[in-house]
Amino acid sequence: MTALPSQHTPLSAVPTRAEYLPFCRPALGEEEISEVVDTLRSNWITTGPKTKRFEADFAAYLGSPGALALNSCTAALHTALATLGVGPGDEVITTPITFAASANVIEHVGARPVLVDVEPDTLNIDPAAIEAAITPRTKAILPVHFAGHPAELDVIWEIAARKGLEVVEDAAHALPAKFKGRLIGSGRNPVAFSFYATKNLTTAEGGMLTGEPEFLARARIRSLHGMSGDAWRRYGRGGSWRYDVLCPGFKYNMTDIQAALGLWQLRKLARLQQRRREVVAAYQRAFADHPALEIPVERQTVEHAWHLYVLRLRLDALDIGRDQFIEELATRNIGTSVHFIPIHIHPYYRDKYGYVPDDFPAAHGSFCRMLSLPLHPLLSDQDVADVIEAVLDVVRTHRR
Ligand SMILES: Cc1ncc(COP(=O)(O)O)c(C=O)c1O
Repeated sequence: MTALPSQHTPLSAVPTRAEYLPFCRPALGEEEISEVVDTLRSNWITTGPKTKRFEADFAAYLGSPGALALNSCTAALHTALATLGVGPGDEVITTPITFAASANVIEHVGARPVLVDVEPDTLNIDPAAIEAAITPRTKAILPVHFAGHPAELDVIWEIAARKGLEVVEDAAHALPAKFKGRLIGSGRNPVAFSFYATKNLTTAEGGMLTGEPEFLARARIRSLHGMSGDAWRRYGRGGSWRYDVLCPGFKYNMTDIQAALGLWQLRKLARLQQRRREVVAAYQRAFADHPALEIPVERQTVEHAWHLYVLRLRLDALDIGRDQFIEELATRNIGTSVHFIPIHIHPYYRDKYGYVPDDFPAAHGSFCRMLSLPLHPLLSDQDVADVIEAVLDVVRTHRR
């Protein structure tokens, strides 16, 4: 343990650890490496048998009616909105506390992203604010399960059913998460997952769209140039060179190299999640009831996927702000991040829609005092102890 400093310590304080602890590392093993090599040696490297198997395994894991593997969550969200026919003149209600992709895809289809504020505890979209933002142009609601904590789906579904709206879930963080005992992605509506390098399951880049099979069949065509047959069917034995272009589709298919990673990551997911939960439990124990820290919540009704551990600072208890807190942790060799810079303060959205930061006070107020601590399955007990010690040391040094 580092001794308690009596005075404010300068930024160059003794590092908590000798080696820099990066914010994230992918938890890939020899199985993934061998499966990728096997794919490379198989002579079939793009969408093929491993992608099909990954789709089937993923759907079985979640109990989804169907699954479509794509090259990102962004691709899955874009394909879902386009397949639903969301377009110019339509509005889609979403949250400012998300990655740019959730709003960008709404712009891509020519619709308007309508942002509404978040709940102060989960930082998920506030259902009451959704209700207030609905207009005759509203076509869909796009909730994001922030950090892996499911949004209030029952209320969102009740509103959607009453108003005749689609629900497209951004589940980039929510594998595996449960709302009232049901796994996110096990329903019939479109749900988009991310397999980006930092995610709970990674294929380096990749995504999955789950939902109803008839919808996914149309989404599959749209995701690959609008073509009636994919390459596996064209170039495989007995395949035909003929195809029809049915719509001006995208080029969003997953490759078998990515799927090779996904097949093993999925088999390991329960074990990887167990380690995430252990890390979270240690953080929660260390930071609970601390006057300068606000820990993340897990409501009784959900099972959190714990993609991110988002700590909020009580700035009135500290003599530094969030940005300097992050620098202090970096000096102590701890990598962190911020999730997210709210959509409405990014120049494109701010200028196009005339937003000011306080349009969404819960979102912006939290942004100013949030940081994400390292959370991944490869963290050792010593790594976790170092993060805790570094956070508490910064707090001790900078208590008001
Ligand atoms: C909430 C959210 N939605 C969508 C995405 C986009 O995912 P991808 O990088 O797989 O396109 C991300 C990526 O980090 C995200 O955090």
